[in-house]
Amino acid sequence: MAERLLILGGTGEAAALAEAVATAHPELHLITSLAGVTRSPRAVPGEVRTGGFGGVQGLKDYLSDMHINYVIDATHPFASQIAAHAARACNDLEVPRLKLLRQMWQRAPDDNWVEVADTAEAAEALSHRGAKSVFLTLGIRDLDRFAGLDGTRFVVRLIEQPAAPLPIPATVIVGRGPFPADAEETLMKREGIDAVVTKASGGKATEGKILAARALGLPVVMVTRPAMPDGPTVESIDDALNWLTDHMT
Ligand SMILES: NC(=O)c1ccc[n+]([C@@H]2O[C@H](COP(=O)([O-])OP(=O)(O)OC[C@H]3O[C@@H](n4cnc5c(N)ncnc54)[C@H](OP(=O)(O)O)[C@@H]3O)[C@@H](O)[C@H]2O)c1
Repeated sequence: MAERLLILGGTGEAAALAEAVATAHPELHLITSLAGVTRSPRAVPGEVRTGGFGGVQGLKDYLSDMHINYVIDATHPFASQIAAHAARACNDLEVPRLKLLRQMWQRAPDDNWVEVADTAEAAEALSHRGAKSVFLTLGIRDLDRFAGLDGTRFVVRLIEQPAAPLPIPATVIVGRGPFPADAEETLMKREGIDAVVTKASGGKATEGKILAARALGLPVVMVTRPAMPDGPTVESIDDALNWLTDHMT
């Protein structure tokens, strides 16, 4: 039977990894798992399964039933629950697991970053600064945390059109990265943005807003990353491929 790799996905990196694995190791049976959050996920080579596993035990059952030999967790840096579940399930079953974690952005000396622990603190930081026009790139969750900011309008960028009205006064922009810095700068100027709010997601695809904020001298309120489980971690597709090749029997 062909060896089986499970990629925990939902990111551009996971899709790029699936492409790279399909090319480098066509003999592998490749499965990408998606949480099912977006209605139109990117196409990837190999099998795709969708939806939660049902906690650690559900994931353990899946890994056993599907005879998974390797797991690469390429989920988003803020997807801490699935990362913890994957670590526990793989440790218990002794299935080799790798975390592919995109590289954090580098802070330049002139950057005005306000690092906060969560979205509630991000809203507080905005109210202290009296921001009037805010570029909010946190996704659809927790937007109600920003509802109390009277006199602030938001430009909210989402991957897809929201199913219900947002709980804050906002212009919605629908788009999927990569977002080049010059286009981000144009958007910020056009919308009169005076503060940017983001997760510390890192990676090249969404670094444009950081570079644009730097060029325009705008503050960036940044929600810091959650801790990730211990274990082997790489930042690039090439290093993930090397790990896989080293582990394949
Ligand atoms: N958080 C973000 O900012 C963000 C941004 C872009 C993309 N994403 C992607 O969206 C997905 C959900 O993110 P999240 O922050 O809600 O994750 P999370 O809080 O870590 O996970 C919540 C639950 O969703 C299920 N799940 C998450 N990722 C899964 C996957 N790849 N395959 C199957 N089930 C998965 C698991 O359910 P069970 O316990 O039932 O197994 C998990 O316990 C992730 O796959 C992530 O890569 C997240």
